[in-house]
Amino acid sequence: MCGIVGYIGPKPVVPVIIEGLRRLEYRGYDSAGIAVAGSPDGLQLRRAPGKLRNLEAVIAEHPIHGTFGIGHTRWATHGRPTEENAHPHRDCTGSLVVVHNGIVENYLALKQQLTAKGHTFVTETDTEIIAHLIEQELKEMEELLASTRGNSEPTRPALEEAVREAVKHLTGAFAIGVLSAHEPNKLVAARSGPPAVLGIGDGEYFLASDVPGILHHTRNIHFLADGELAVLTPEGVSLSDFSGRPLELKTQRIAWDPIQAEKAGYKHFMLKEINEQPRAIRDTTLGRISFDTGQVFLDNLDISADDLRRATQITIAACGTSWHAGLAGKFMIERLARLPVDVDYASEYRYRDPIPSPLDLGLLITQSGETADTLAAQAELISKGSKTLAICNVVGSAITRRANGTITTNAGPEIGVASTKAFTAQLTALFLLALHLAQVRNTITPEDSLRLATELGRLPSKLESMLLDPSNTIGMSEGVAAPTLTSAATSSSTPAWPGPERRRAPRLTLDEQCQHLARLFHAASNFLFLGRGIHYPIALEGALKLKEISYIHAEGYPAGEMKHGPNALIDESLPVVCIATKDPDDPASVLKYEKTLSNIQEVTARAGRVIAIATEGDDQIASLVEHTIHIPKAPELLLPILEVVPLQLVAYHIAVRRGCDVDQPRNLAKSVTVE
Ligand code: F6R
Repeated sequence: MCGIVGYIGPKPVVPVIIEGLRRLEYRGYDSAGIAVAGSPDGLQLRRAPGKLRNLEAVIAEHPIHGTFGIGHTRWATHGRPTEENAHPHRDCTGSLVVVHNGIVENYLALKQQLTAKGHTFVTETDTEIIAHLIEQELKEMEELLASTRGNSEPTRPALEEAVREAVKHLTGAFAIGVLSAHEPNKLVAARSGPPAVLGIGDGEYFLASDVPGILHHTRNIHFLADGELAVLTPEGVSLSDFSGRPLELKTQRIAWDPIQAEKAGYKHFMLKEINEQPRAIRDTTLGRISFDTGQVFLDNLDISADDLRRATQITIAACGTSWHAGLAGKFMIERLARLPVDVDYASEYRYRDPIPSPLDLGLLITQSGETADTLAAQAELISKGSKTLAICNVVGSAITRRANGTITTNAGPEIGVASTKAFTAQLTALFLLALHLAQVRNTITPEDSLRLATELGRLPSKLESMLLDPSNTIGMSEGVAAPTLTSAATSSSTPAWPGPERRRAPRLTLDEQCQHLARLFHAASNFLFLGRGIHYPIALEGALKLKEISYIHAEGYPAGEMKHGPNALIDESLPVVCIATKDPDDPASVLKYEKTLSNIQEVTARAGRVIAIATEGDDQIASLVEHTIHIPKAPELLLPILEVVPLQLVAYHIAVRRGCDVDQPRNLAKSVTVE
C-alpha cells in the first residue's frame, strides 16, 4: 500500500527520501511525490503519476533542495492516480503539506464543513482534507491566542498542536506526515491504524511507513503505536499521545540485514524469495522443536497450557495467501490435536456477528501484521472474550502487539507483493502449533511426535534439493498425447496447444521444468488448480499466485467438486494443475490420492490438459497426464510446503513470459491497511 518516507538531518534530503521510497516500492503504488523545505526557495513540491522514475525525471528537470522533507508513493483509493491526486497535499496557502496512508471515512462531511469555512479543494482525495483541517485548526488557535493576548503581536501556535486537534476529527485510518514552511526543521507524524515507524539515527531522524524504507540508515526503530504523535527536529524526537501527554520513545534494534531486502543477483524479488524458502523454514523451526524428543516449545505465549487444553475451538481469521495457510492449518490442527477449527476471511468475520465462546482461541495469520481486515477480526475476537494468537512475519506489528502470543515466522522481509516464503513459513508455524497443541492435549504419541519433528527437520534440505540441485532425483515426465482437436475446437478462437513430447524429459532442475511449462502454457486464458484435503488450499494458492502476477484467470477447486459443475469448463484449451501427491505410509493420504486419480481421469477424458504435481517414485500418474512434476516424499501434512513451490515457479515464469511486473503487480499492494 502507500509508502511514506520523511527525513530531517544533514544529508541531502531528496536522495534520502527517493531511495527510501524505492525500497518501499514493493508495497505497490501508482503515483509519487515529495515536498522539501528549508532552502531559500521555500516549500517545494514535485509529483508525478506512475513509477518513481517519473518523479525523478520531474526533479531532474526542476531540482529541489531543502533541510527537511517528506515523500510518498500513493496507491489510489479516492481519486485516480494523477499528478494532481498524488501526495503531498497542500492547504489553501500552499505552506503546509501532508502525506497520508489509510482512508478518511468521514471526508465528505469534513469537506463540506471546511468548504463552508472558505477552504478551496483542488483534488478528489480524502488526504487533502487533512491539510485543510490542520490549516483551520492553526487559524482558530491563532485567533484564540490573539484574543487572549489582547490582540498584540500575532502568535503562531505550534504545528503539532494543530495536528493533534485535527486528528481528533478524523474517522477511519491514518498514518500521516506533516510539514510547514513556517516551522523550519520540523516533521510531525501521527498514527491511528496504518503502520508508521520512526528511525533514530546519529543526528538524523526518519519517518517511514515500513522499516525497509529507512533500514539502510538506521536500525534503531520506534514503531509508532495507534494514538501516538511524534515531532521530529534536528534535536531529536518527542513523543506524546493525542491528548498531549508525553510518552517515552521505545526504540528496538532491528536485526534484519538490509542485504536481505535486496535482490542479491536475482531478476526479481519473488524469485529470490522463492529460493529463500529453505532458510525461511529452517529459521522458523529452529529453537522451537527438539529433534531428540519431538517436543515443541513456543515461547512468548501469554496463553497457558490449561487454556490450550480447555479450548473448544480455534477460529482462524486471515486474508488472501494467509487465509490459504489458515485453511491448510485447519487440516493440521484437526488431525493432530483433534480440536475443531473454523477458518474465516478476516474481511467477513466481524460482519457476520460471530458467536465465539470465551474458551475459543482466535488465531490471526498475517505476513505484515498490519492488514486492516485482520486487525478488525482480532478486535472482534477480543471484544467477544477470546484470547488471540498471531502467526506473523513482522515483530512489533499491530496484530502482534494486541495478541496474547505470537509465533514469528522468521522468513525475513518479503518484498515481492506475491507472498511466497512468508506462506511456507506460515505453514511451518502452523505445523509447529498443531504439534504443540497435540502434545499439550495429549492427542499424539511421543513416537509420532518425534517422527513428525524429524520429518519437519528434513524439509529445508528437501527444498534445497528441489530448488538448487539439477541432479536431484525429482524430475519431470511427459506422458499422454494431447487429445486430438475436434474441428469445432480447432476453429474456435482458443489457442491450440503444441502437442506434448512423448518422452521422458531430460533431467532438469525444478526451475527449468517450470520454465518449460511456462513456455507451453503462458498464452492460456484460464487455468484450473485442483487438490483434495490439505492439498485443496494449495490449489487455491497456486491459482492466486498465477492470477495476481500473470493476470490469467485461474481458479482453485476441490478435485471432488469438479463433477458438480466445473467439469463444464473443461476442454482442450484448459490447463488443469492437479496436486496428486501422497504419503505412501499414510492410508488416509493414499485413499485421497486414489480419489484424485479418478478426478484426473475425469478431466483427461474431457480433453483437459493435466499438469500433475506428484510424489517422487510415482510413475503411475505420469502415464495418465501430459506433464508431471515430482517432488520429494514427506508426511501428508508437510507435503504442502513442498508442493506449492512448483506452483510458485510456474506462476513466476508465466508472468515473466507475459511481460508482467512480477514484483509489483497492477492494482495490488503488499500491505493492505484499508478495509
Ligand atoms: C498474495 C498476498 C495477499 C496477502 C493478504 C494478507 O500473494 O500476499 O493475499 O496474503 O493481503 O496479507 P497479510 O498476510 O500481510 O495479512
